[in-house]
Amino acid sequence: MSCSVAIGTQWGDEGKAKMIDYFTKDADIVVRYQGGANAGHTVVVNGKKYVFHLVPSGILHKDKHCVVGNGLVLDPVQLMEEVESLELEGLDAKKRLFISDAVHLILPYHKALDAAMEEFRSQKIGTTNRGIGPCYADKCLRTGIRAGDIFNEDTLKERVASALKMKNLELEKVYNKPPFTLEEIMDILTVFRKKAGKMIINTQNYLHQSLKENKKILLEGAQGYALDIDHGTYPYVTSSNPTIGGALLGTGLNSFHINEVIGIAKAYVTRVGEGPFPTEDTGDDGDRLRVNGKEFGSTTGRPRRCGWFDVELLKQSARINGLTSISLTKLDVLTGFGKIKVAVGYEKKGKKIDYFPSAELGTIKPVYEELDGWEEDIDRVMNYEDLPSAARDYIDFLEKAVGVKITVVSVGPGRESTFLRG
Ligand code: GDP
Ligand code: IMO
Ligand code: MG
Repeated sequence: MSCSVAIGTQWGDEGKAKMIDYFTKDADIVVRYQGGANAGHTVVVNGKKYVFHLVPSGILHKDKHCVVGNGLVLDPVQLMEEVESLELEGLDAKKRLFISDAVHLILPYHKALDAAMEEFRSQKIGTTNRGIGPCYADKCLRTGIRAGDIFNEDTLKERVASALKMKNLELEKVYNKPPFTLEEIMDILTVFRKKAGKMIINTQNYLHQSLKENKKILLEGAQGYALDIDHGTYPYVTSSNPTIGGALLGTGLNSFHINEVIGIAKAYVTRVGEGPFPTEDTGDDGDRLRVNGKEFGSTTGRPRRCGWFDVELLKQSARINGLTSISLTKLDVLTGFGKIKVAVGYEKKGKKIDYFPSAELGTIKPVYEELDGWEEDIDRVMNYEDLPSAARDYIDFLEKAVGVKITVVSVGPGRESTFLRG
């Protein structure tokens, strides 16, 4: 069996898409397994930038297949926009992309409810307003509409009418927002059926069959460990499981299929939206990380909060996900910092805490070590040996502290700015 999973280890935006694009050379099929268009996945090839929200980041490799797994919540309009813009570029995305018939569809009322709930919340989450939470809620309430439902027009209309009755009541009576008509929702679904009907299949069977044919599968996580609804910093999380369990649930593969779990970690930490972030730097260094790292959200354009590498966060992510290796991204962004801080643990009321306390993060203080920085630009470095010795020492320090091998290093957004650690 050959199935690798790449998972974000922090609060998302670790550079997962860049690494997925890099690892796709060794895969036959790339599969998204959770989340939706809240993800913003950036791939840069030959200087051209692509941002994917739903299409898996392996799609730029012309001989590979891609799958939107059953665990996602899929905005049909957004998906077709991405597919059509790839087609315009001469990439035959429609032929190489398969959509699970069990994937839940995000409809306009989900997005309206996402915005309305956020407006009414006293403690904001800072969601992406892409309808993620309300759609996953409908999945659990069993009022969701799945991609496979669109083929039977009669039952579809009945299901949508029934869901819409409840959603409109909620929108109008609870949030004082305008309702949607059955026609406008049905129109979206009819267009989706016409455009994407042939791409919708039973992806679970397709993946199992592909493994029998010795195909290699790469699973692409969205978001990251600390945004996981079960393991993250609840309630400041997303509504899915980016961690390893989500990879199985969201594809129908089982644990025996997985032989590699790659953690994608930024060389520092960022977070978008609200919620605790112990190593956040709200001073000059944080601003400098934001500017040097171009840390503005790929989905919403919001400035990302920036701070220092957090060892306990990574250790927890390694434990929960069973990481077999780490790919370290954005090392180049640390160039020019005389000293680089790393949080090696936390303190609460003078006592040392050596775990990531997802529920009480607001009350702890990180304990920092300071490492020497380097001045040389490293964004053109092609080999590990050519990194300044302080940069190599930084990697050695993180690897030892986290206890998982750092096998790949990224020093720029492009596919070429990636190398194995010698
Ligand atoms: P994802 O959500 O984890 O796929 O990450 P995003 O695409 O949202 O954000 C990562 C950003 O960093 C993107 O703009 C990437 O092009 C960029 N990036 C990825 N790796 C590197 C790197 O090693 N160095 C630099 N400077 N930029 C990188
Ligand atoms: P990628 O895949 C960073 C954050 C939002 C918000 C919280 C809940 O690009 O790493 P949601 O819309 O999911 O209900 O918002 O989660 N969030 C992300 N932060 N990267 C992402 O995805 C994110 N997807 C959601 O900012 O705080
Ligand atoms: Mg992102």
